[in-house]
Amino acid sequence: MPRPVDRTRRAGRRAVGRALAALLFLSAVGAASPAQAVPETPLHHIVPAPVKVTPKPGVTYTLAADTRIHTHPGSREARQVGEYLAGVLRPSTGYRLPVAPGASGHGISLLLTGADPRVGDEGYQLDVTHRGVVIRARTAAGLFAGVQTFRQLLPAKVESASRQRGPWTVPGGSVLDHPRYAHRGAMLDVARHFFSVAEVKRYIDQIAQYKINRLHLHLTDDQGWRLEIKSWPRLTEHGGSTEVGGGAGGYYTQEQYRDLVAYAASRHIEVIPEIDLPGHTNAALASYAELNCDGVAPPLYTGIEVGFSSLCIDKDITYEFVDDVLREVAALTPGRYIHIGGDEALVTTDPDYVKFMDKVLPLVAKHGKTAVGWHEFVKADPPASTVPQFWGTKTVAPDVVAAAKRGSRVVLSPATKAYLDMKYDENTKLGLKWAGYTDVEDAYDWNPGAFVEDLPASAVLGVEAPLWTETLTDSAEVEHMAFPRLPAIAELGWSPWETHDWAKFRVRLAAQGPRWQAQGVNFYPSPQVPWK
Ligand code: ACM
Repeated sequence: MPRPVDRTRRAGRRAVGRALAALLFLSAVGAASPAQAVPETPLHHIVPAPVKVTPKPGVTYTLAADTRIHTHPGSREARQVGEYLAGVLRPSTGYRLPVAPGASGHGISLLLTGADPRVGDEGYQLDVTHRGVVIRARTAAGLFAGVQTFRQLLPAKVESASRQRGPWTVPGGSVLDHPRYAHRGAMLDVARHFFSVAEVKRYIDQIAQYKINRLHLHLTDDQGWRLEIKSWPRLTEHGGSTEVGGGAGGYYTQEQYRDLVAYAASRHIEVIPEIDLPGHTNAALASYAELNCDGVAPPLYTGIEVGFSSLCIDKDITYEFVDDVLREVAALTPGRYIHIGGDEALVTTDPDYVKFMDKVLPLVAKHGKTAVGWHEFVKADPPASTVPQFWGTKTVAPDVVAAAKRGSRVVLSPATKAYLDMKYDENTKLGLKWAGYTDVEDAYDWNPGAFVEDLPASAVLGVEAPLWTETLTDSAEVEHMAFPRLPAIAELGWSPWETHDWAKFRVRLAAQGPRWQAQGVNFYPSPQVPWK
């Protein structure tokens, strides 16, 4: 952060002649010298870019060993955000950072009153003065978003799991911030390769830093069924027993799944479970012979082809099965959505596909949930309340535009931009390339509000970055593909379009590198980003 640093240093040199008097004065009042505290991060180095940033040059705040976190009196949720913040800061600072309800002009305050009304339901206002840091919001979700911004203002080594040397100084000024879109999603495919509860929690913590508020879990596919369904136990006993490449696979018990959902909720992230239907169902078909039209269970599948499986559209048991699964998934899901897949049903005829969706969409509603579907499901003319997820490789999608005209709002995940499993370039070892190479600038440089031709900006519910895992087996590989592109998609979901500027984004993104290093995130150091 060249300019503020230089100015402070020059001021420091001018002050040398007065040093003795100053020292005497400071020791007399018992304060640390604020002039020594130079923030590492300028106020505008935040990803995603905030709505409004107003630096106050010369003002800083430095955490001290006795700093306290004050949370809105009477709010358990605000207190939980305070505990979360303390949990982030304690290992590296070594400070106690006690969290307690109260109000004080000093230290860190998380308050549910007094925010600019423009912050809405998820935004916040952050003020850093020499006395402390005040984050104000109308909801705990807003406080949580403000905490993520505050975190990025501290030196990168604050993200370390071990104790580091301070000073822990942040720049003075104000941030007013609120999201462009309500839906800011990340999807993780835990079906092609299974990811443990710990691995998914790790990803949740990573995406939460970029104000992602939806985690779509792709729980079932040809290669594995990953969520225990008590009324159909072989789905996981057999259907969860392998994965791409023939490894041991795995699944979440309902208890583990509830724990994941609660963990995500503690990061203000809503889980959207996907049960992919009627295609991508080989694991289910292999587990129950009666779900197959010919009554014969196919073998488990560990390859990466798509489009070869389908539930039997004309059998009653298909809908008993789907009803049971949706009932159990809905009971495990506090969020409003269930994703019913619907993609690449290549061995299902269009009339059969429509017949299937006509029976299944009312089941989703019966269990109290709103259906999300990959955009192919618009051919079934789904109700306006349902959410198509666009994953096309073109910008022309008249059927999706027609669904929007009927009232649906659309989530954008164009495969050429938002698919985190696409290779960065021809040297990327992991990932696939059927939608083309996607380096960081490609991922960043599109406008969700104007991407699909004739899709009105008002019909866009938000964006989502899917991460398919045919080629990815562990957290290090997931991180290599998600970082730094996930923050690019997160910024498209959060930041006002007026802030969109690749030249500036890449500099702000570069400042995330040391943070990921401190966290042990295995990011791809794309040559497009001026890493320090
Ligand atoms: C998809 O990529 N098949 C949604």
